[in-house]
Amino acid sequence: MHLAELLFVSSLSVATFALDNGVMRLPPMGWLAWERYRCDIDCDHDPKNCISENLFMDMADRLSEDGWRELGYVYVNIDDCWSSMKRDDNGRLQADPKRFPGGIHKLARYMHDRGLKLGIYGDMGTHTCGGYPGTTLDKIELDAQTFADWEVDMFKFDGCYSNATEQEQGYPLMSKALNATGRPIGYSCSWPAYQGGLPPKVNYTQLGEICNLWRNYGDIQDSWDSVLNIINWFFENQDVLASAAGPGKWNDPDMLIAGDFGLSMEQSRSQMAIWVIMAAPLFMSNDLRTISSGARSILQNKIAISINQDPMGIQGRRILKEKSGIDVYWRPLSKNASALVFFSRRNDMPYRYQTTLSKLNYTTGSYQIYDVFTEKTMTLKDSTNFVVSVNPTGVVMWYVSAPAKRNIRQFYRGGRLQGSLFDDDNANSPVFL
Ligand code: GLA
Repeated sequence: MHLAELLFVSSLSVATFALDNGVMRLPPMGWLAWERYRCDIDCDHDPKNCISENLFMDMADRLSEDGWRELGYVYVNIDDCWSSMKRDDNGRLQADPKRFPGGIHKLARYMHDRGLKLGIYGDMGTHTCGGYPGTTLDKIELDAQTFADWEVDMFKFDGCYSNATEQEQGYPLMSKALNATGRPIGYSCSWPAYQGGLPPKVNYTQLGEICNLWRNYGDIQDSWDSVLNIINWFFENQDVLASAAGPGKWNDPDMLIAGDFGLSMEQSRSQMAIWVIMAAPLFMSNDLRTISSGARSILQNKIAISINQDPMGIQGRRILKEKSGIDVYWRPLSKNASALVFFSRRNDMPYRYQTTLSKLNYTTGSYQIYDVFTEKTMTLKDSTNFVVSVNPTGVVMWYVSAPAKRNIRQFYRGGRLQGSLFDDDNANSPVFL
């Protein structure tokens, strides 16, 4: 073999590939029915809140009319309990005719007409988790083609009612089948969640090659306990998980529940901040028709969203877990910037956390800080002692710009000195932020 060939072959074997369908180079964003609406099919008694085409059209209207779509929330995703209990005469899945009289294809068109995308749900196994028809190995190609015919844009493949061997065959097979339709369909795999989420049972290299995102862990519920439990699991296992993520392949800690019943405003900000640090998909599951302005402004925070959508797609990490109950999270961003989150596990009162940027591994220099939720800006030198006040179960989140090369940068306009950008005084007493 020639040297050039050798190099080519060996570069192939070390390179890692994301699923080659071109979609979801950034974490996908949108709305997903499950956490808020579950399997509520009681349309006779509650036509506005049951799993029906009206619900999805209502959410699409809200996404496109209330400023969500422009921020990137474009997927409207159907979860379980959408189908009829029986496949049609040709063996194809079909929507429940009473609740989806227009059918799924028409619903996809409704989304596309509004610049949105439609996601649908299926299950690798005999039945979905809710007991509806599943996709056994022999049905994979047919179901993939059905979804493509309906012009669906994303597919979540759950894993109830199948064993490990079937899953090992089914998840890659579905990836191939979706690709073979020629329609780019974002592929969400629940496979790792059914195998404990960790190696050696879970092969994250393979997942990155066949899926765009994957559920690693259990289902989120509408409570702070549930959010905290998910955060704990993901960051206890960050060494395995963070390196699995990147453009086109994302860990999915499950839906955002801000806007529902279980979280305070502090906790809603915390969930948003940590999901953003994780480069997690941002799928809200709430009622966009009645959402409070507080929850809306958290979910619509432009800087938080732009951090989540950073093009480098590097998943952030917890860099400190202090005895005081303060955790510090960090995510590197493009343009040499970064994001920091100070998170409080405390339940007593706002805690004054004192540190310096150099203790958080920042190199020498002055940094521009933008507080994501208070919208305040400030400048901090790496050596400056500062104090952040973090509310119980809450966060302080910062966007940190690239350091200026020197501590003092004097700038000139029209040949005249205008002032210095950064204060070079050595701060002995801490700065309160
Ligand atoms: C599983 C999944 C959930 C949801 C339900 C539907 O529990 O993890 O996200 O899709 O099934 O039944």
